[in-house]
Amino acid sequence: MKFFVDTAEIDAIAELHALGMVDGVTTNPSLIKKSGRDILEVTKEICDLVPGPVSAEVVALKAEDMIAEGRKLAEIAENIAVKVPLTWDGLQACKTLTDEGKMVNVTLCFSANQALLAAKAGATFISPFIGRLDDINIDGLELIEDIRTIYDNYGFDTQILAASIRTANHMSDCAKIGADVATAPPAVIKAMANHVLTDKGLAQFIKDAADANIKIV
Ligand code: G3P
Repeated sequence: MKFFVDTAEIDAIAELHALGMVDGVTTNPSLIKKSGRDILEVTKEICDLVPGPVSAEVVALKAEDMIAEGRKLAEIAENIAVKVPLTWDGLQACKTLTDEGKMVNVTLCFSANQALLAAKAGATFISPFIGRLDDINIDGLELIEDIRTIYDNYGFDTQILAASIRTANHMSDCAKIGADVATAPPAVIKAMANHVLTDKGLAQFIKDAADANIKIV
């Protein structure tokens, strides 16, 4: 499973990238707002840092306007994936931009039917939002499973990009289901390293090393 990092914070991306943890980046208008940066500038910096796909989201609602924005975003770098919402206009924009050879990430997906439409429109990525479904007591992981089944049934190339990931367990659950990509905030990716028994075992090893005066360098 590929790891994308869901942020527009350059330092956080760089830290994870140095460890080989970043196969791509996803942003959205809320993350750009949080960064306090200009969308074109910060997206260019991210693209210079990370060779994998970098999703940059349109803010228009009509297909023709989304297409214009998508073309401008795609000019930033070769590795831009234009992110469009899963609306009828978004699907139209997806088809046009895909036909022009651009990567397209169709976002705000909350149902298997929406994912099926995105694949038919040629999306490179479909972004089902796990956490926001869980927030309203609908099993977000079940949606990932359903999309996996549908895409495998018909050999769709669209990659399942599990999004709105809130916990480390979501990451391993997505990997078990066979999501192609999971995008998560830096803190969630780092939390994957945590285990109480690791902490407990390490404390004992460090104590024993001190008691036995073990020195290596
Ligand atoms: O990039 C979209 C998505 O990952 C948003 O997550 O936590 O705001 O639902 P969240």
